[in-house]
Amino acid sequence: MEITSRLLVANWKMNPRTRAEAKELILAVKKQARVPSGVEVVIAPPHVYLDEVEKVIRGKFSLGAQAVSGEKMGAFTGSVSAGMLQSVGVTYCIVGHSERRAQGETDSEVEKQLTSLLKSGITPILCVGERERDTHGKYFGVVEAQLRSALRVFPGSRLAQLVIAYEPIWAISTATPGARVATPDDAHEMIIFIRKILTDLFGRTQAGKVRILYGGSVDQKNSTALLAHSGAQGFLVGGASLRPSDFVTILKTLHAR
Ligand code: PGA
Repeated sequence: MEITSRLLVANWKMNPRTRAEAKELILAVKKQARVPSGVEVVIAPPHVYLDEVEKVIRGKFSLGAQAVSGEKMGAFTGSVSAGMLQSVGVTYCIVGHSERRAQGETDSEVEKQLTSLLKSGITPILCVGERERDTHGKYFGVVEAQLRSALRVFPGSRLAQLVIAYEPIWAISTATPGARVATPDDAHEMIIFIRKILTDLFGRTQAGKVRILYGGSVDQKNSTALLAHSGAQGFLVGGASLRPSDFVTILKTLHAR
């Protein structure tokens, strides 16, 4: 199956500072954005702004969350379950982002989170990516291990509800001062590799249903080349998603084939 739809995900991270600013930001994005057919835009604000953002984007963009607990409910102070996210209108959720893995999130937690999101009908956006590139290609092994561990019990029949974001940590703007964006070739070789691992795990037909995004310093200047040559079906955007006109310029490059 050839995937013709494309996805643009705004990962606001821990921004902006207040609810009023969040409202201002989403109103500006909504006003400027025309969503081309075959393209879906997901806005993932901090949990406390989900409600506010949902009211503004309803019917135009989809609502995403940046994190979820793998637990159902109960004594887990500070945590938010997939069921709770679903009840406020969330349909996508980022899982295994490197900034959360750096805070101690483990592979087995990532696996549990995927399972609970699927149960709640939320599409997971599973982030994978190496810390650095070596000349011997060890970084392929890093991404392979992340994928195999996260998808150990993932049902092949649900792969159309899985999104994978390849985010090399060395290219994430906030993680690395002076980060360099991956070249379209860097992204392309890893996207092919990810598809190969998915094929090993689930077979070719099922593997073809997974949408693979690129993330890491995507902006209004590099998005056209990245989209044309990386094989990605869209982007996970951090910094540029906080600048409405830049985000909208990226969106314009995503015309479906
Ligand atoms: P960036 O972040 O676009 O600011 O590099 C991307 C991400 O971490 O999801």
